[in-house]
Amino acid sequence: MGDVMFDFNGKAVLVVGGTSGINRGVAELFALQGARVAVASRNPAKVADTLQALEQLGAEAAGFSADVRDMAALEQGVREVYQRFGTLDVVISGAAGNFPALAEKLSPNGFKSVMDIDLLGTFQVMKAVFPYLRKPGASVINISAPQAFIPMMAQIHVCAAKAGVDMVTRTLALEWGSAGIRVNSVVPGPIDGTEGMARLAPTEEIRSRVVAGVPLRRFGTPQDVARVCLFLASELAGFVNGAVIPVDGGWSQNGCGGMSDYLGSLA
Ligand code: NAP
Ligand code: COA
Repeated sequence: MGDVMFDFNGKAVLVVGGTSGINRGVAELFALQGARVAVASRNPAKVADTLQALEQLGAEAAGFSADVRDMAALEQGVREVYQRFGTLDVVISGAAGNFPALAEKLSPNGFKSVMDIDLLGTFQVMKAVFPYLRKPGASVINISAPQAFIPMMAQIHVCAAKAGVDMVTRTLALEWGSAGIRVNSVVPGPIDGTEGMARLAPTEEIRSRVVAGVPLRRFGTPQDVARVCLFLASELAGFVNGAVIPVDGGWSQNGCGGMSDYLGSLA
């Protein structure tokens, strides 16, 4: 009792897909807590811009460009981050792709592209970081979505991929628990100002309907999600392993408020 359980000074955090939206908010909050933070994504300009922002927040920052579908690029980037920081304590994996498309109109390659980014990509990130993360106190957080457990029209690719992501989380909680690594999923609800919401709720009318379906009657923010990631990565959550935690104002308890119906009517 009374021990410090929330100290990220000196810890090294990697946020894959951390160069925009929710995941960038996560990277920035860890930086503000004194962590050394690395980010990775495909676009080198987004990586450079995020690095600059993290440094302006006072963090030692690193970054690399890689597509999560490219195992060799991931392995090289993670190795460089480890060489730079000399440790790796927390990994947040959140690279994803999404667009609305009914199954009837979605090509096999469209389905595959989201499966490859979200699900295979998550697995590959896990494989790339494991050799460096393998120590008591380490923590992995996979960024999922309500589609993992709430079926939605025009989201068959995302539903299948994110359900798989949560099973990666739960299976690794079993396999890696004995090494002292905790693996959990965070499930954001509708988060304002993000690419994901711009794609799924592109008009004011749909945005109003989304908010009406959230029991707390507001959009979430990247900070809402980041705070729960911070908790999960800290010793406060030292016995939390294999959990799938919605951060959605209760949206998923409400079946995501009819999102399926309006996506189905749009697509
Ligand atoms: P976003 O801004 O588009 O973030 C996606 C991030 O992943 C970017 O940094 C992107 O950068 C990177 N990325 C995409 N494809 C990649 C690939 N193949 N390889 C490596 N990096 C890749 O989206 P967001 O809306 O904030 O979503 C972030 C996460 O939250 C996702 O996992 C999403 O499923 C989840 N989520 C979002 C919402 C929401 O309301 N927005 C709701 C539920 C769940 P590059 O373009 O540079 O690669
Ligand atoms: N509707 C239907 N199919 C679509 C589509 C859409 N809006 N957008 C892409 N596709 C299909 C393409 O037609 C292609 O299939 P095809 O070869 O049979 O024609 C397939 O998806 C791959 O498209 P491509 O553009 O080559 O994929 P990519 O790997 O360059 O990009 C995406 C991946 C499509 C997921 C792209 O939207 C992306 O990079 N998204 C990242 C940002 C994001 O989605 N953020 C929100 C996160 S929740």
